[in-house]
Amino acid sequence: MHDAGVLSPVVEATAIAVAELCAAVDEPSPLIVDLGGGPGVYLRACLRRAPTARGVVIDLSKACARAAVRGEPTAASVIADVWRQIPMRSASATVALSVFAPRNIAETARVLRAGGHLVIVTPRPDHLTELVGPLGMLRVGPDKDDRIDAALSPAFGIIDRRVVQETRTVTAPTIADLVAMGPSAFHHDRAHIDEVADAVADARGGSLEVTVAVTVTVCRVRGDRSHPSGSDQRVTD
Ligand SMILES: C[S@@+](CC[C@H](N)C(=O)[O-])C[C@H]1O[C@@H](n2cnc3c(N)ncnc32)[C@H](O)[C@@H]1O
Repeated sequence: MHDAGVLSPVVEATAIAVAELCAAVDEPSPLIVDLGGGPGVYLRACLRRAPTARGVVIDLSKACARAAVRGEPTAASVIADVWRQIPMRSASATVALSVFAPRNIAETARVLRAGGHLVIVTPRPDHLTELVGPLGMLRVGPDKDDRIDAALSPAFGIIDRRVVQETRTVTAPTIADLVAMGPSAFHHDRAHIDEVADAVADARGGSLEVTVAVTVTVCRVRGDRSHPSGSDQRVTD
């Protein structure tokens, strides 16, 4: 899915936001932690734009943890569950990143340095809207941003929100990959997803235009750190 470049504008917008945050701190080598970072595509893009930074991907998947560090000397990865205690020292990270991944707000706040930032990428209601009906994908609720704000507010203050919205042309294999990477994949097996993706693409002459629409939210950890600790503030896409 990443190789097909569908989400390249999202990757770039995220990397720009993270690099700006790294450039603004007085640290020789800021630490970026990508929680549920998958194969490390976002972390790599961040490290390209913030060359003095170091990065860590935390992910449940061994394959992702391996892929994330391949050929990346300033990146490390850890196989771990972000719903549990994140295996990092308190106040050790400069920027945390969460892209289409589960968010443990209290633990994320714990691992960030004072004044550290969290960058979250979340789908907007019209994200991949052309695929929602035909492929039975879960819809993004119109109150998504409000729910994120409410979950974040005990530990973080939102300082910036950027919308990325573009149209991309996709073929059947990419359609199937887009569905398979989302939460809807839990409700269908891969063979079914491939079959429906083929049918949808064939019905439109082999390819279709899809809307990519996400919000990149930048927030800052609250100074008083008076938020509740523990892993009870769970949010997911
Ligand atoms: C939709 S993918 C997004 C990956 C990456 N952020 C990206 O956009 O390329 C969600 C990722 O979260 C990871 N993940 C799911 N639950 C997790 C958990 N509880 N702890 C750590 N990682 C988790 C999955 O293994 C997967 O790599």
